[in-house]
Amino acid sequence: MNFINFNNAGASLLEPSTKNDISNYLQLETNISGYYIEQKKKKVLDKFYFNAARLLSCKPEEISFLQSTTYGWNLFINSLTIKKNSNIVIFDNEYGSNYITLVNNNLNVRVSKLKENGEISFEDLKRKIDKHTVLVAVCHIASQCGNILDVEKLGRFIKKINANIIFLIDACQSAGHLKLNVKQNMCDALVCSGRKYLRGPRGTGLIFIKDSIQKKIIPKIIDTTKSKIIGRNLSIINSTNIFETFEYSPSLKIGLSKAIEKYNKLGHKEVEFKIKNLSKYFRKKMSSNPLVTIYENERLISGINTFSIKGKTSFDIYSFLQNKRIITSISSFQTSTHYFKKKNLKDIVRVSFHYFNKKKEVDYLVSSINNFTTKN
Ligand SMILES: Cc1ncc(COP(=O)(O)O)c(C=O)c1O
Repeated sequence: MNFINFNNAGASLLEPSTKNDISNYLQLETNISGYYIEQKKKKVLDKFYFNAARLLSCKPEEISFLQSTTYGWNLFINSLTIKKNSNIVIFDNEYGSNYITLVNNNLNVRVSKLKENGEISFEDLKRKIDKHTVLVAVCHIASQCGNILDVEKLGRFIKKINANIIFLIDACQSAGHLKLNVKQNMCDALVCSGRKYLRGPRGTGLIFIKDSIQKKIIPKIIDTTKSKIIGRNLSIINSTNIFETFEYSPSLKIGLSKAIEKYNKLGHKEVEFKIKNLSKYFRKKMSSNPLVTIYENERLISGINTFSIKGKTSFDIYSFLQNKRIITSISSFQTSTHYFKKKNLKDIVRVSFHYFNKKKEVDYLVSSINNFTTKN
């Protein structure tokens, strides 16, 4: 039997055609010459921007191809000019590395508490935002909790208070999973990774930055493709795709482009429907086992489900399932310090479904968990 990948929120499976596009490009680099091939394949490479723009409903020039969400988040935060008395508001489901970026920059961070049911508390958020708030950041779906946050309502809420507050969405777990429309959710920047629900290759990601903001930013990492020295001063010569530099991996860019194109063709409705159905199916089947606690709110359901089993450690559950050839993952305290503190948990096991997973795979997962709970 093959492995079952229920760690799609970690890294999902590449489609064979995506893998072929990547290896075909690498074959050309192997046979001929990297720069020459890049010139010859310019049209195919540029398709990346059109596919990504269609994914997010933005302009191709507003996209930068990067290696990961963390990279995009860091670059964005580090490239903003933030005054000492300003503050940044995040939520208590924030991803650990994102929070580290803010701490590393000595920024004044306010943490808005989500409601016990996982929804945004707009009352609490209103108390956290004041005239010194320059940015509100949100994880659309957190790494360690699959509740979907209403980013469209959030965007409208923030912009109504102050249109100048920058709204940043971490769509690492929602890209390729849920509808993303930067006009409707009114975000100014959005970051995501390729390897998760988009089914792109590892080491890929992208950032959307709204035109008007892109024009004001001086990227923390910058080279001659975007700037030049005039006299003694640095001058930006190209503010499109602003976070890109000269060197990157064209083969991986082609891979991510293909994966996004496939997702765009399938459409978010079908993908979302299939994923959510698998989660509902899992929860229903699991509900007859009183030793299992699932942490998500069914009304906010996505493909990410986290659970614990009374009397068992996360590592033992994870290892037991891995021996059964079921791949899951463990989310631990550092994944989101605010979340784990609030829930008074050390770690939890995560299963994350994608549209290609089958109900019979979920049946096998459920029977394996049930077997494990009855073991001493
Ligand atoms: C919500 C969220 N944000 C950010 C990240 C970091 O993504 P990357 O490892 O691609 O930088 C993750 C990774 O799992 C995540 O789940």
